[in-house]
Amino acid sequence: MKFLKKTVNCGDVSLSSVGKNVVVNGWVHRKREHGAITFINLRDRYGIVQIIVDDKASSKLKKIAQNLKFEYCIAVKGLVRRRAKDLVNPNMKTGAVEIIAQRIDILSTCELLPFQISDKKTDAKEDLRLKYRYLDLRSGAMQKHIAFRHRFVKAIRDYLSERDFFEIETPTLIRSTPEGARDFLVPSRLYEGKFYSLPQSPQLMKQLLMVSGFDRYFQIARCYRDEDARGDRQLEFTQLDLEMSFVTRDDVLRLMEGLFGYVFKKVCSIKLPSHFRRISYKDAMNTYGCDKPDLRYDVFINDFNREAELSSFDVAKNVVKEGGFVKMIVLPKSDIEYSRKFIESYGENAKVYKNNLFFYMKIENGALETGAAKFFKSQEKDIIKKYNLKDGDVLLCVADKNWKRVCAQASSIRTKIAADLNLCDPKRFEFCWIVDFPLFSYNEETSHWEAEHHMFSMPQARFIDTLEENPGEVLGDLYDLVLNGNEVASGSIRIHDIELQKKIFKVCNYSEESAQKAFGFLLEAFKYGPPPHGGIAPGIDRLCMLLCEQDSIKEVIAFPKNTFGVSPMDDSPSYVSEEQLEELHLKIVKKENDNEA
Ligand code: AMO
Repeated sequence: MKFLKKTVNCGDVSLSSVGKNVVVNGWVHRKREHGAITFINLRDRYGIVQIIVDDKASSKLKKIAQNLKFEYCIAVKGLVRRRAKDLVNPNMKTGAVEIIAQRIDILSTCELLPFQISDKKTDAKEDLRLKYRYLDLRSGAMQKHIAFRHRFVKAIRDYLSERDFFEIETPTLIRSTPEGARDFLVPSRLYEGKFYSLPQSPQLMKQLLMVSGFDRYFQIARCYRDEDARGDRQLEFTQLDLEMSFVTRDDVLRLMEGLFGYVFKKVCSIKLPSHFRRISYKDAMNTYGCDKPDLRYDVFINDFNREAELSSFDVAKNVVKEGGFVKMIVLPKSDIEYSRKFIESYGENAKVYKNNLFFYMKIENGALETGAAKFFKSQEKDIIKKYNLKDGDVLLCVADKNWKRVCAQASSIRTKIAADLNLCDPKRFEFCWIVDFPLFSYNEETSHWEAEHHMFSMPQARFIDTLEENPGEVLGDLYDLVLNGNEVASGSIRIHDIELQKKIFKVCNYSEESAQKAFGFLLEAFKYGPPPHGGIAPGIDRLCMLLCEQDSIKEVIAFPKNTFGVSPMDDSPSYVSEEQLEELHLKIVKKENDNEA
């Protein structure tokens, strides 16, 4: 089809084009009439330019202009003119110029819009935005996010390609292997009863590439996990998947520090420190209550066991006596009035994590007052001195027998303090590494040890010999990268010794037979000179979300699913025909009380 093709992008019309005839293609963003003059804001990916159909225009042109509606796709031919001084719009990239239209061709019309296309974020409800995602993507905010994501990924590719990395694609139809979440399965047409699985990550494939000698691999990889979609989780998401041979943990961490330093500088002009803080898992849990601490604010969790023991507060004393933990967090004096209701809301918040005991004390006139203060009077001075407490501060305390649980309760208090006192600066980026994770965790429900990360991570050398005796004590050579309270990457040095790998399977309650069945191909490959190797996988969606200052990864994904795992746009997942099912050797068995058609 022939059409009037653009000679310049709308957003690129500038003073250098003044006096020239140009053609622009784009969408009618706004339109207003001023007597006989029509002003049209024409938009494309590069920006917006003002078109004028003035009183000298032919009546045909005037009529076309008057009939234009929002989001018509049009071509405009016209003369670029400098705007009069008092009409210059400093908020527009093209604000110093305008185009006097000589011809307008309507390339396609647009029906009544379900919501207005905004310069910023469209304020329609999420499901409507997702149903008409192609329109939502026209909004200024979404255009910015998608452009950002492109630049972000490109910078990653540039940095790694410069450093001898190969980008290698791995298959998306693989064997189903247990990896933590539930697999998405794809039935085979040719082999009745058999299934492919969509990879939860290219973990095993990248390890096989190391066996093949591709010692520096990366991939911008799609991953699929059948789990509940949340703010920072999607059923399908993207990782920068990376693996290297002949490396130690520090080599991987250094590479990532260099990569993020480069990418943040290049894409956001943000200078990061050349090294990120390293915090052990245990310290992170004790100081911040979680393994993905937000380091933008200095609110710390204090061990209050000693104080509880010395107090006359029997309930707290008993928790310590029974081997439990008492944690204290200072809610510092602020402009907010700390009413009883306000303070107790911290206890309510902690209850999400099965909170047994919450108590508090206030500092008033240099003394401990209200709440549980009377039980701590004998150590009042020591407490005030030790924690450097000031009038107006409040001590918030939780106690629980279970260490992980009390940490989670304290962490919820810490996070709420930051939210209430507005302590999180969205423009600050605080990275840290969490290292020295336990290799295994005990699953109370199944009464089995499980891999904390995945079963291919290397135990730290000093634990290798005694691995099976005390799995709970074993620390692994694994690491997480955390940014502003979000886990943005996770990785480890892998096991390349087949016997050690078998031992790990055994601890995780995999019989030799079931390990062989699930991971036989990896074990087989490890018979052929596997190199020592390790890697990491940062989540691209989460990083882009944080850098675009968004609180959901959906804002940086072109076509995401909603919280229920549904795409309102193409209505997936959808039913398929009987013929398709038959071809795939499948039969749908409805649950008895399932009334749905
Ligand atoms: P892991 O499962 O920790 O490790 O994932 C690595 C990173 O991927 C991101 N991520 C997600 N992003 C969006 N939606 C999800 N559902 C989702 N799940 C994970 C997170 C996370 O830090 N194969 C290992 C990596 C390795 O050991 O190299 C893996 O996949 O940012």
